Amino acid sequence: MDKIVIEGGLPLNGEVKISGAKNAALPILAATLLAPGVHRLANVPPLADIRTTKRLLGLMGLQFEDGEPLLVDSTHLTGWMAPYETVKTMRAAVLVLGPLVARARQASVSLPGGCAIGARPIDQHLKGLEAMGVKITLNQGYVEAKAKRLHGAEITLDTPTVTGTENLMMAAVLADGTTRIHNAAQEPEVMDLARFLTVMGAKIEGIGTDVLTIHGVPELQPATYTIMPDRIEAGTYLAAAAITKGQVTITNAPVAHLSAVLEKFHEAGVRLSATESSITVHAGGNLTGVDIRTHPYPGFPTDMQAQFMALMSVARGASVITETIFENRFMHVSELKRLGADITVTGNLAVVRGRRQLQGAPVMATDLRASASLVVAGLAAAGTTEVLRVYHLDRGYAQLVEKLAALGARIKRVAA
Ligand code: EPU
Repeated sequence: MDKIVIEGGLPLNGEVKISGAKNAALPILAATLLAPGVHRLANVPPLADIRTTKRLLGLMGLQFEDGEPLLVDSTHLTGWMAPYETVKTMRAAVLVLGPLVARARQASVSLPGGCAIGARPIDQHLKGLEAMGVKITLNQGYVEAKAKRLHGAEITLDTPTVTGTENLMMAAVLADGTTRIHNAAQEPEVMDLARFLTVMGAKIEGIGTDVLTIHGVPELQPATYTIMPDRIEAGTYLAAAAITKGQVTITNAPVAHLSAVLEKFHEAGVRLSATESSITVHAGGNLTGVDIRTHPYPGFPTDMQAQFMALMSVARGASVITETIFENRFMHVSELKRLGADITVTGNLAVVRGRRQLQGAPVMATDLRASASLVVAGLAAAGTTEVLRVYHLDRGYAQLVEKLAALGARIKRVAA
């Protein structure tokens, strides 16, 4: 298994271009199940999770022609099962549930179970589908969903779940009548999916708000669409530039969707300037500890918590980091401590006391963003940092090593 080897301590310099958003591309690929025909998707990032999704949709009869744009032929739907082998490696596989019941009136999707960052149930997805007339049973670890017809419903989510909102929206677009999802997730990736569905012919009101109103239509058409850029990838490069005290321009960045993140970087003393689609981190400026609290969009994203913690580990003073979305998302703490960070965790709260300097060490993490935080820390640590379990990073960062090397980092991927 490969590892990433970093010789830290060099300031990053130059320009880096952000790829398409993983968490927008995944539901949009699933949404191609809804309309037979050939869809054209541009800016789909080259990631392991995308390859997994293509394999999964391939099991259902979809065909792909790689290129820019990616062609997805969903003319023939021949299966409606998401096996355990796929769902256990990628929870987002659960996103086929909504579109499959909408088009095929049936789906068999393995229940995801817990994962490295928390229990992550899908009860809200199932509750919403049941309200639309879907009969749900659990059989040998699989959610079996069947419906004669789907009808509109009033659904209030207990929590604004991102993939739950996406699944329900994808089911509702082909239901009879109107569905209203209250307390819907407002994440930009949910908006991107809603826009793709709209291009397919769906009728959705309230995009970007916490109440989505979906008027079902009898059928949808295949669509041509460009996936939005990845705000978390952009935020990760911000952290990498800031921790190395580099001078980096991040292009193709969804600046408007990064307000909460940019504000915290600014508060922490990072010198920034931005246009509509690019952010420049300017060298100089002293890092100061600031507090963050993760929150659904437009709050500070949980997917940036670990990378921000790496930055805070070398800031002057203390920082209190509160994780409110997932109950177990501090797995990076013990590894950051191996690099010399001073962090104390009590429940969902981490107190980081900044150190002047981190020291390189071999580290590994159990999820994608935790692994990203170790790369960020390694870029600033003195000496050699080895980040093991690179497959986590392959799931969500396109050409990470190449992009960082082009910015002047001493980083390489080697077979472990
Ligand atoms: N929740 C429930 N019941 C449900 C669904 C969710 O209790 O039916 C809880 C979860 O346990 C969690 C909270 O609600 O405590 C929020 O979870 P959410 O469902 O919003 O997360 P998700 O849809 O499974 C997506 C992203 C995650 C990101 C979260 C939060 C995708 C494919 N995944 O997950 O991305 O952290 O939203 O923003 O969109 C990542 O990219 O590294 C990643 C983990």
